[in-house]
Amino acid sequence: MKKFSVVGAGTMGHGIAELAAIAGYDVWVNDVNDDILLNARNKIAWSLSKLRKEEALERIHFTTNQEEALKDADFMVEAVVEDLKVKSQVFSKASKLVSENAVLASNTSSIPISEIAKAVDKQERVVGMHFFNPPPLMPLVEIVKGEKTSEETVKVVGEVARKMGKETILVNKDIPGFLVTRIMFRINEVGCWLVDNKVADVKDVDYTAIQVLQFPMGVFLLQDYVGLDVSYLIQKALIERGFELYYCRAFEEKYNSKEFGMKSGKGFYTYDGKIIRPTLENARMVDPSLLVSSAINESYKLIRLGIVSREDVNKGCKLGLSWPKSPEDYLKEFGLSPVIRDLKMLYENTGLPHFIPDESLTRSYS
Ligand code: NAI
Repeated sequence: MKKFSVVGAGTMGHGIAELAAIAGYDVWVNDVNDDILLNARNKIAWSLSKLRKEEALERIHFTTNQEEALKDADFMVEAVVEDLKVKSQVFSKASKLVSENAVLASNTSSIPISEIAKAVDKQERVVGMHFFNPPPLMPLVEIVKGEKTSEETVKVVGEVARKMGKETILVNKDIPGFLVTRIMFRINEVGCWLVDNKVADVKDVDYTAIQVLQFPMGVFLLQDYVGLDVSYLIQKALIERGFELYYCRAFEEKYNSKEFGMKSGKGFYTYDGKIIRPTLENARMVDPSLLVSSAINESYKLIRLGIVSREDVNKGCKLGLSWPKSPEDYLKEFGLSPVIRDLKMLYENTGLPHFIPDESLTRSYS
């Protein structure tokens, strides 16, 4: 395997190209105009100099000509905008140009792989290869199997990801949000429910997430960082694709008032141009088992259904979300009874069936 193509050189694409070049591949990066490519090149050069791997830049070719980037490629990672139509165009073109056994991977964070795969002839070689931001620093790649993805394709993606220095987890079924985004939204929904119903303030939820659960960021602070436009649209996309989720009104309000978080200077907190940690003075602790209860329930359900292994759930939370503990560890810490009580309370108050404690929770807890 030699030629590695990256289509889309934005936030994610340029980082993925950098990793591929460090791994020794001959990398072709494509985007729609020269300014974007130059910007990507400068960022890669800066990052490679920090890593003292400047020589890798020689292996990267930048081109606005998509045919040139894709012709006879052995491996493609698509990292264009999160839009099925645009992604389908890229895959359709790639399907006609790449080498016979090439793997076609998408870095999508929410679009089902099986929907993207419809654009190509050999759907068995289409797969999800979900990097985290920023790709050079985040240690995880989430591999997602579409309905028709072959075992061979999964194997090749795993090998390539490891060659790029990443740990991998495998999501066996093309479910909305895969694993890591799903778990993140399980935390978000409880935080939002507490805030929407005036049980707690944003600050209280974040204080509990940081101080008690020891997450690297608070629930709302993280969404300010991600961008509340992005969070709102992902929430919408997940729900439209059948993911049962408590609908976060607070996200919608922020979206409608264009308070997108750090990038717009105001979100759940106010920023003065710098990325700062907001003060959590006078915050009250909310029940930590309640905050994490839906994420625990989700992870046990996914393991029971054989969608993700227990080991990969733990790895996904620790390496994809930077949690210090796995959902299983939190369950042990807080105990089964409080978590079941919290889930029942959420179910009674919202009527949403995904809050019903999963049958495996009681069974697998020893
Ligand atoms: P971005 O907007 O920074 O970059 C997308 C790039 O694709 C732009 O430079 C754009 O010009 C280019 N592009 C659009 N149409 C194209 C086409 N037809 N051919 C070639 N290039 C084209 O977006 P970002 O954040 O890098 O996201 C890319 C993908 O990665 C999305 O699917 C997103 O969901 C996913 N992702 C994003 C993460 C993030 O934190 N930003 C994390 C994990 C996945």
